[in-house]
Amino acid sequence: MTELDTPPAHLRPVEFPPGFGWGAATAAYQIEGAAAEDGRTPSIWDTYSRLPGAVIGGDTGDVACDHYHRYPEDVALVRDLGLGSYRFSVAWPRVRPDGGAVNQAGLDFYRRLVDELLGAGITPWLTLYHWDLPQTLEDAGGWTNRDTAHRFVDYARTVHDALGDRVPTITTMNEPWCSAFLGHTSGRHAPGRREGAAGLVAAHHLMLAHGLAVQALRADGATADLGITLNLTVADPHDPTDPVDHDAARRVDGLFNRVFLDPLLRGAYPEDVLADTAAMQFAGRPWSDVVHDGDLAAVSSKLDVLGVNYYNGAAYSGHPHPAPDDGGVRHPDLLSGTPFPGGEDITEPGRGLPRTGIGWEVQPEGFTRLLVRLDADYDLPPIWITENGAAYPDEVVDGRVEDHERRAYVEAHLRALHAAIEAGVDVRGYFAWSLLDNFEWSYGYGQRFGIVHVDYDTQVRTPKSSAHWYARVAASGRIEG
Ligand code: NOJ
Repeated sequence: MTELDTPPAHLRPVEFPPGFGWGAATAAYQIEGAAAEDGRTPSIWDTYSRLPGAVIGGDTGDVACDHYHRYPEDVALVRDLGLGSYRFSVAWPRVRPDGGAVNQAGLDFYRRLVDELLGAGITPWLTLYHWDLPQTLEDAGGWTNRDTAHRFVDYARTVHDALGDRVPTITTMNEPWCSAFLGHTSGRHAPGRREGAAGLVAAHHLMLAHGLAVQALRADGATADLGITLNLTVADPHDPTDPVDHDAARRVDGLFNRVFLDPLLRGAYPEDVLADTAAMQFAGRPWSDVVHDGDLAAVSSKLDVLGVNYYNGAAYSGHPHPAPDDGGVRHPDLLSGTPFPGGEDITEPGRGLPRTGIGWEVQPEGFTRLLVRLDADYDLPPIWITENGAAYPDEVVDGRVEDHERRAYVEAHLRALHAAIEAGVDVRGYFAWSLLDNFEWSYGYGQRFGIVHVDYDTQVRTPKSSAHWYARVAASGRIEG
């Protein structure tokens, strides 16, 4: 073959390593519904979604995909697609309503789900916290109250006692950045607080809860792999020649990526983040006073696995720029304001890349760069990609959903992931987000991330063409040229 005959990289066949895992992911509040059944009490999302203007269309998770009743059908979908792994989360307010005593009926739902998965030959991957804090704990201060970390440990032990012998991977938090900063600084997620430094305080307590839970489960004799899932991004300077834009990108990297990666993997908060946020007060004191002696030793407990969620990167500037006007469906409230404490001057100008239906840039090469950078900067445990995917406005036509854009997005990201593996990054598996269209938080049901379409009137599930394509990739471990 001459150089001219060589197909471009995006068309070459690629082969994933033997044993590479393929799965799909969901989260409790986004799919279960049955919000008041079998003893479940409200979470912060039940409360927040009822606040006027908080969620587009006033949508709530009351019914969602009715997965609580339809889980056998949903497990059968995973099996029929030939996916070996399924990532789901447990709802804290089902298992320990109000954050209090154990509720056997709630726990039994997850026993049935795990039985169903194992019976179908699917490996369960369990997330303990995908954002549904019991409202009663929020009323006592939520994640800005250190005690919530101890309540989380009680809850983690309950789930582990019930399921730990049959679930090989348990992760503590999903995307603590969102819980902390969208929840407490920008207020775009539950509990909807807009309190600046409260985001940092919540971030520390979420990490502390993670670390204490890992220690407690290990003390309880855990055989499961224990880990955490972070949403990570690639923050580029808008103008690579401008030091002000470089500084904006550094601050975003600090408060998005390193504020979690460093305490977890190095046992310390990044110096530059501490310096940038030193003046921020929480309850009249520097926020960093919330960090007690010994906390970082717990937070940096050994991880068996690191879950990475990647959707996109972005370019940042320290200068004023108008919001980008390059298409995409946007929630005006989510665009305005920045969830970075002390980062009110940071703007995200856009750089002409294609965008998914939710308005996020499609930037697969950032995925390779992110993984290679993680590997260079940290002593990492094995990585799984616990989420990656895209929202597009899909429609069922003649019983089919031809979602070519999603298929192209997933293919490009799998190729980018493959490039990172070739570069030596130890990535063991990939979960598509999401198995089902579901409640997309502040965007409600209007943004569809599923590889399976859900008709919310009838609850009919229709695998999209991307699901059939993904099933072929999972079966062969290859992307054809
Ligand atoms: C990450 C979150 O974990 C998940 O709940 C959400 O639906 C997806 N991102 C898409 O926004």
